[in-house]
Amino acid sequence: MNIIKTENYDEMSNMAANKIIEMVRTNPKATIGLATGSTPKGVYKKLIEDHKANGTTYKQATTVNLDEYVGISRNDPHSYHFFMREQLFSHIDIPLEQTYIPDGMAKDLQLECSRFESVIQDLDGVDLQLLGIGHNGHIGFNEPGTSFESRTHVVTLAESTRKANARFFPSIEDVPARAITMGIATIMESKEIILLASGSSKAEAIARLVNGEVNENFPASVLKLHKNVTIIADKDALQFI
Ligand code: PGA
Repeated sequence: MNIIKTENYDEMSNMAANKIIEMVRTNPKATIGLATGSTPKGVYKKLIEDHKANGTTYKQATTVNLDEYVGISRNDPHSYHFFMREQLFSHIDIPLEQTYIPDGMAKDLQLECSRFESVIQDLDGVDLQLLGIGHNGHIGFNEPGTSFESRTHVVTLAESTRKANARFFPSIEDVPARAITMGIATIMESKEIILLASGSSKAEAIARLVNGEVNENFPASVLKLHKNVTIIADKDALQFI
């Protein structure tokens, strides 16, 4: 794993955004894997600024997102569909039909997982996948204990994840119990992965990732088995490295 240490959140966001911009400029039909949460917001802001200032186009690009809550409609402000439209898609020129996010309202969730997995396979995999990391080491919503062989599947969210995400909801009771997530094997097939981390609250998770062993109890550790992973993190998140 390559590690790039940045001075702060802004520099982390700039570096990751530049990688995505370079990717779509050299390969306009690239498939970019996107993440939600607080960490990638700055990256999306930079992509929008660059699109407006320099005209970088996403007309031929495709995006796939890591995950979505089960039981929340795409127009609910808490859904990741809504998040992505608000934070990125509505402000760049990507056609919405080229943006794929699991449908957490699907009647048959298993079928939806297979459909989403096929979408990724049909696209010939993800060229560049953006990841955040949970305090418990989750990537996407793959919680500790998830098999490294997993494909897109329905998960029961860890209590710690629901607590961490309660800040986006009126109360913790409103945080969905389940989600659909890209599986670990699916994530590992991405040609290139960028993992972002910012702030001292992520420092222990990053230290465990860098210094710890590869183990299903710490899902992000699987990334050590991937050939092209770059951690871009600010100095607070890297304070124990
Ligand atoms: P965060 O979430 O960016 O909101 O910290 C990251 C994650 O849980 O994967």
